[in-house]
Amino acid sequence: MDSYIDLQNIGTEELGHVDLDRVDVYGSPPDVEPQRQYYFMAKCRQIVKSERERLGRPLYACIQTLGCQMNARDSEKLTGILLDAGFEEAAEEVADFVIYNTCTVRDNANQKVYGRLGVLHGYKRRRPHMKIALCGCMMQEASVVEKIKNSYPFVDLVFGTHNIFKFAELLYTSLVSDRMVMDIWQDTDAIVEDLPAKRKYPFKSGINIMFGCNNFCSYCIVPYVRGRERSRKPADILREIELLARDGVTEIMLLGQNVNSYGKNLEQPMSFARLLREVEQVEGIRRIRFMTSHPKDLSDELIAVMGDSKKLCRHLHLPLQSGSTRILQAMNRRYTKEQYLSLAEKIRREIPDISITTDIIVGFPGETPGDVDETIDVVQKVRFDNAFTFLYSKRTGTPAASMEGQVPEVSMKQGFDRLLHVVQDVARQQAARLAGQTAEVLVEDVNAHDGSLVTGRMSNNMLVHFPGGRELIGQYVTVALKQCKGFYYMGERKAPAINDSI
Ligand code: 5AD
Ligand code: SF4
Repeated sequence: MDSYIDLQNIGTEELGHVDLDRVDVYGSPPDVEPQRQYYFMAKCRQIVKSERERLGRPLYACIQTLGCQMNARDSEKLTGILLDAGFEEAAEEVADFVIYNTCTVRDNANQKVYGRLGVLHGYKRRRPHMKIALCGCMMQEASVVEKIKNSYPFVDLVFGTHNIFKFAELLYTSLVSDRMVMDIWQDTDAIVEDLPAKRKYPFKSGINIMFGCNNFCSYCIVPYVRGRERSRKPADILREIELLARDGVTEIMLLGQNVNSYGKNLEQPMSFARLLREVEQVEGIRRIRFMTSHPKDLSDELIAVMGDSKKLCRHLHLPLQSGSTRILQAMNRRYTKEQYLSLAEKIRREIPDISITTDIIVGFPGETPGDVDETIDVVQKVRFDNAFTFLYSKRTGTPAASMEGQVPEVSMKQGFDRLLHVVQDVARQQAARLAGQTAEVLVEDVNAHDGSLVTGRMSNNMLVHFPGGRELIGQYVTVALKQCKGFYYMGERKAPAINDSI
């Protein structure tokens, strides 16, 4: 028994280095986190190992992610746990364990999940030992959970956003059970640190700095499914970034639904701008991005930090949602068209090389073609470098769902097409301004369509494709921007030079 490790006595710093095969899994589980989850990872590992031996092959897990960067980061955490549990990663859904990390911001994401479940049911009929799991935002909706219980009884595991840190424990419960395991929490204060994560890219990573949202924009379901705003402590964030930097990460993206209100409810309040100044000090980090900013909370202090910084990327995603003050008010966005315009102008003035992108919703209840004109006017004045445009999607339980004046689909689509046309025009013109310049590019991958090219990202988040090999992945190279293709560039590698980065 001596060689067994008792997790009760292991500090959080060391947990990531513990040999899970030596963990004592016969005693009772620790009641503190994250030790408890490591105990269950070790338990899962035993089961996976014996299954491997029985089948004479590895066990595969497939993680499918829908939605935003927060979900992408959550999926890296799920992957980390599945790998520690002994699974191997599979790209295909024909696997032993398939998990869908869902999104519910718009209804089409929900429909996609139901569609995929039909397909997965087919796979499961042929491979009865297969386990199907669902997690993420969609699972926080009571109506979804009811539907899964009634119409998709072959699903094995369902959990939500608040208890994702318990995944190892839930996975174990599911592996030893042949009933549907379901655990959905309504809310939580818990922020569990120090669980494993497996990054998609070795050189870049997302980092959660806060969870939840307190804004209650009237169309948005996020506050209901992700709960109230909770900020991580600066020390925990900095420690995570330092560890990532030591592990070869050079580009980070700080993640939160509304990063500009970071730190307001910490025991020792701290502004987002202050956090950025501290993150900048971390050695080895070359690029810092963040997402998403609410215009009402974007401070002059933040603009100043961005203006000064060599590491903060020249990109700001600043959701507009609508250019009509009347609609903005009904959306509960708490800014007017004029306030947005003057904020954007200030940003462009203080940080001239910045790229501003946005999100816009068309078809909010009560929206008229005149309101769409106002939105188009803002697009033309701000000159967005890119805009994600969405058709309004009615989300049950949000105030907008029961508002009068729901816009018929045909009118919505007309407004959407008119707006898209302008958005694309402006974005093309904005992109074309860079032709002939050089930019520092972080190479991310071999081009998906042409193996002789690599694809990288400029500081302003725009993609560049240029001739090069796999060995460049993760490297910063100077690229001449030769040909603008609308939203991306074709380029040519130059010898690295100083002072010419975009
Ligand atoms: N319908 C359409 N788009 C929405 N978004 C959020 N909720 C809805 C909805 N109900 C969009 C917003 C947000 C982005 C992430 O998704 O533009 O910024
Ligand atoms: Fe939704 Fe508004 Fe919160 Fe963004 S800020 S997540 S749109 S409620």
